[in-house]
Amino acid sequence: MTWKHNFDTSPDVELQGALRKDFHWGYATAAAQIEGAWNHDGKGPSIWDKFCHTPGKVKDDSTNEDATRAYDLYKEDVALMKSYGVTAYRFSLAWSRIVPLGGAEDPVNEPGIDYYNRLINELLANSITPFVTLFHWDTPQTLEDRYGGMLNQERYAPDFLRYARVCFDRFGDRVKHWITYNEPGVYTLAGYAGGMHAPGRSSFRDRNEEGDSSTEPFIVAHTELVTHAQAVKLYREEFKPSQKGVIGITLHGNYSDPWDVNDPADVAAAERARQFEIAWFADPIYGTGDYPACMRDQLGDRLPRFTAEEKSLVHGSSDFYGMNTYTTFFVKHRTEEPDINDHKGNVEKLDTNSEGKSRGPESDTYWLRTAPEGFGKLLRWVWNRYHVPIYMTENGTTAKGEVAPTDDVLNDTFRIEFFQGYLRELARAVQDGVDIRSYFGWTFTDNWEWAAGYTDRFGVTFVDFESEEKTRYPKRSAYFLQDYFQHLIARE
Ligand code: GAL
Repeated sequence: MTWKHNFDTSPDVELQGALRKDFHWGYATAAAQIEGAWNHDGKGPSIWDKFCHTPGKVKDDSTNEDATRAYDLYKEDVALMKSYGVTAYRFSLAWSRIVPLGGAEDPVNEPGIDYYNRLINELLANSITPFVTLFHWDTPQTLEDRYGGMLNQERYAPDFLRYARVCFDRFGDRVKHWITYNEPGVYTLAGYAGGMHAPGRSSFRDRNEEGDSSTEPFIVAHTELVTHAQAVKLYREEFKPSQKGVIGITLHGNYSDPWDVNDPADVAAAERARQFEIAWFADPIYGTGDYPACMRDQLGDRLPRFTAEEKSLVHGSSDFYGMNTYTTFFVKHRTEEPDINDHKGNVEKLDTNSEGKSRGPESDTYWLRTAPEGFGKLLRWVWNRYHVPIYMTENGTTAKGEVAPTDDVLNDTFRIEFFQGYLRELARAVQDGVDIRSYFGWTFTDNWEWAAGYTDRFGVTFVDFESEEKTRYPKRSAYFLQDYFQHLIARE
């Protein structure tokens, strides 16, 4: 089809070759959202398997039993990615596929190891660099049942470390880019504050039977930070000397802009919102080595304290800043005392600012608007605060009306404009001196979007979920990214 590759890059002539020659680009995915085969070949249940089989938890009442069937179709998927011109692919390992019961003393499932070996080898045979995430939200259900998962740092840590060790040991000869946790903040906020994600705990009894939104999110976050650092220590001491890879963490973070730029209280509120969302995890790792002061002020003893040993372990425990970001909000200060269940810094997040300016055009996802300017600001905020190389590990959008693979839907100009806007900002930030080394679009194919089920389509590939084969149809944005990266990445 001629519409595949006819993008005009001339307006961006000044960005040509802005990105380093060895810049990695491709797509990101997560095991629970694509693999399917949820109970095949010895895989144990994860908290998402349980959650999606609980009535009322997922918007379209779907499960991820089959998802996109990536477990069966990985070869076709790698071939399709290759045809999209990617140089890298970020995917996650399903812990309960590798250790079905999850625990340090529980057996390793060889068919699970075999699957990931086949996938990694297929990628390498196609010159696609694997970026591997150990944990993308799918805690083994057994660990939840045994001791409450990450609420119990002491019991959870050895189980996670043993799992990490198995992965480094079995895949590290070929995998040179490791990510410990994907978005520890979203895992804890959605799972333990809002209770809308697995394991489904919160203070809200109309939604969840158990939980405490005022304490548990901070406890789980602490467990993630410390066990991330322990896994990195393990990698650095026992594997890195021979395997020579890099390892880090991926944090979520949207940008917060003041609602009224002329009101110092809003300017302060926006900064506080950024710190509650991002510096919560990033300051202990890349900054001061502790939680931000504004969080301690608001949360007091509900925010755990690092022991001296944990502090030095966590500080410096990431070779890079893995960034997932999607949008920007306008942030207004609140005059009331913070709610006991507040985790945002006592602010209001709004769609328009004091001048009536919208934060961007609506996607098909309620929280997500196209807001490239904020992305440019976010990149500089993170770089100026932490000065570590940034790996963009997720960024993308849904688009309204994507229900069938018609020509109109496949010619997804809304998504193309999103990517173009964000990539322009990325390339400009690099020209301004921000060190950015990768970009992974979210996501390769439409998938099972957690509690939104199959209703939110983020893919550059349309998937017909009704068909047995989960037929894939390339959207035009896949070809746009291929052409645009050719323009942006330096050749020499
Ligand atoms: C991220 C998450 C992905 C995907 C994406 C789009 O928070 O890591 O798994 O769900 O958002 O909502």
